[in-house]
Amino acid sequence: MYRLGVLISGRGSNFHSILKSVNSGFITNAEIVVVISNKEDAKGLNIAKENRIDAVFINPKDLSRQDYDKIVADTLIKYRVDFVILAGFMRILSSEFIKTFENRIVNIHPALLPSFRGLHAQRQALEKGVKFSGATVHFVTNELDDGPIVVQSVVPVMDNDTEDSLSKRILKTEHRIYPLAVKLITENRIKIEKNRVICDTEGLDDEFYALNPKEFGR
Ligand code: GRF
Repeated sequence: MYRLGVLISGRGSNFHSILKSVNSGFITNAEIVVVISNKEDAKGLNIAKENRIDAVFINPKDLSRQDYDKIVADTLIKYRVDFVILAGFMRILSSEFIKTFENRIVNIHPALLPSFRGLHAQRQALEKGVKFSGATVHFVTNELDDGPIVVQSVVPVMDNDTEDSLSKRILKTEHRIYPLAVKLITENRIKIEKNRVICDTEGLDDEFYALNPKEFGR
């Protein structure tokens, strides 16, 4: 059974979707052992507590990035975490941290990477006038919002979309693809070949197929 540590900064809805998938048995081979936040008032910390998962606030005040990340890494090691799940963690990780958990950190980004990296991905998509956007779960490397892609989902961008309405449509698919990606990884169904993640999707074809067409209301 793999042990997951989740890093958050706020709402924690992606953390919650993964937790629900663990509890429902969709994710068969992993448990969430700790949730860490850099914000004391992160709502996700309450979700963790309500579900009897250790919720840890680590205050970044007066700490360098390296020192902060070292404390976070030591905490994850103390909890014997195998995979680090970034779920709205609004800090850039140091290269030391990434090395410590090499190929064992995943992130979700609210765009079809490699488009619209960085902050306000949904706003960037609207500003560029793309007709489709979506979400991406990827392994974390030293390049921001880069790294091998595990799962993506696509949503249409409507003419009357606002940043808020597009974000909501994307978030709905985030809650589906993040648990799916965690399932694939923790059931050892993936291998990384150069930049490609090759997935064994046996028994999951419906799940994969549903990811995209369903969002078009078909
Ligand atoms: C999500 O949109 C995710 O893609 C981005 O940050 C947001 C986190 O939302 N990285 P939540 O805290 O999981 O609700």
